[in-house]
Amino acid sequence: MKFSLLLAFVGCAVATQLAIGNADSQRPMIVSYPGFDLDLNELRLVQLEGQEPVWMTELEKINLKAEGVHFFDVTDTPDLGSSAHLRSAVKPVYASLNHSDVIRPILKTLSTDGPKENLKEFTSFRTRYYRSDTGRQSQQWLLSRISEITTQYAPKALQDQIAINEFPHAWGQNSIIVRINGSSATDDSVVIIGAHQDSTNMWPFLPAPGADDDGSGSVTILESYRALIAADFRPVRPVEFHWYSAEEGGLLGSAAIAKAYEARSANVHAMSQFDMTAWVKRGTREEVGVITDYVDPSLTEFNKKLVQEYLDIPYVETECGYACSDHASWAKAGYPSIFTIESTFGNSNKNIHSANDRYDISPEFSFSHMLEFSKLAVAFAVELAGWTKKD
Ligand SMILES: *[C@@H]1O[C@H](CO)[C@@H](O)[C@H](O)[C@H]1NC(C)=O
Ligand SMILES: *[C@@H]1O[C@H](CO)[C@@H](O)[C@H](O)[C@H]1NC(C)=O
Repeated sequence: MKFSLLLAFVGCAVATQLAIGNADSQRPMIVSYPGFDLDLNELRLVQLEGQEPVWMTELEKINLKAEGVHFFDVTDTPDLGSSAHLRSAVKPVYASLNHSDVIRPILKTLSTDGPKENLKEFTSFRTRYYRSDTGRQSQQWLLSRISEITTQYAPKALQDQIAINEFPHAWGQNSIIVRINGSSATDDSVVIIGAHQDSTNMWPFLPAPGADDDGSGSVTILESYRALIAADFRPVRPVEFHWYSAEEGGLLGSAAIAKAYEARSANVHAMSQFDMTAWVKRGTREEVGVITDYVDPSLTEFNKKLVQEYLDIPYVETECGYACSDHASWAKAGYPSIFTIESTFGNSNKNIHSANDRYDISPEFSFSHMLEFSKLAVAFAVELAGWTKKD
């Protein structure tokens, strides 16, 4: 999409609420929109594939994204990955699957009820844009929902092992990190399951229900978390669930978190991103898209084994390019990370970044498809973090 089209958006869609000025010819316009804290003239440092980072305005960034270009906004994290080389020597080894006995009963407890109810609420915010008031409110809602689920489903002794925290960001919508401590006294390497909570319209001031992108992944991993704690999951390694802010701004939330983990030399055993888990394109076979570019190859092979062993649908290999979701922030920091998506990239939902990214737009939006991904996250957590035997 070109700049002129965006101006047309401003002109027709939101003109009454905007103040537009063109005083400085270097600066395209000044826009203020109630409920948003977004300066389109602010300079950001942006990293594109195979290039040194370049400075551009927020508006130029938005235009790039509208053209389908993926990037890191590295303004706040220019040195992410500066110690990544230290980790390349010691790669984790992913052994064969051996927790079927504990995993299978949990998979039976997964349901579409919670995801339906949660997604209905999560998409009721006008937008979850990371620099909007409703984006902040949707994050607060998610945080309280996670707390309620924890109180309702985790046995009391397990609750003492769980920490629910906001990871603060300057733009207002915080990321959320839920940690279940591990029982190991010697292995502190964490298993991370992630999704991004923010949404955006191609023009950020317009409505963005973000049902698939990435409301689906957000409630998918929440359902996995619910089932795991209801089963009194006691991992050997710590397990964390992350709901990132500002993925749509250039992976800002995940980059800030990965940078913090890198700064304290945290060990990460494995990270798995769930971004868009609901869409089954009409006339296509239902399958799980295993991303094969910019991911850790051995963890990806392990992920395929999980699909084959625990899911009712097959996987298909697919690619999504540079910096295409939050797993890329972890990869940049030298941590093994992977990405699984609803289908091949080509068959994925084309309503994203629009007001039509709704769960009720088409039967192609499938809660039973999402449930397969909840199975995958449960299996990922247990097979990689282990299960502490009761005395
Ligand atoms: C599963 O495999 C791991 C790694 O090979 C091993 O440490 C663990 O004891 C095994 N667990 C079970 C339940 O067999
Ligand atoms: C989890 O473990 C960490 C590190 O050992 C510790 O600092 C923290 O207090 C523990 N959290 C809970 C909720 O027990």
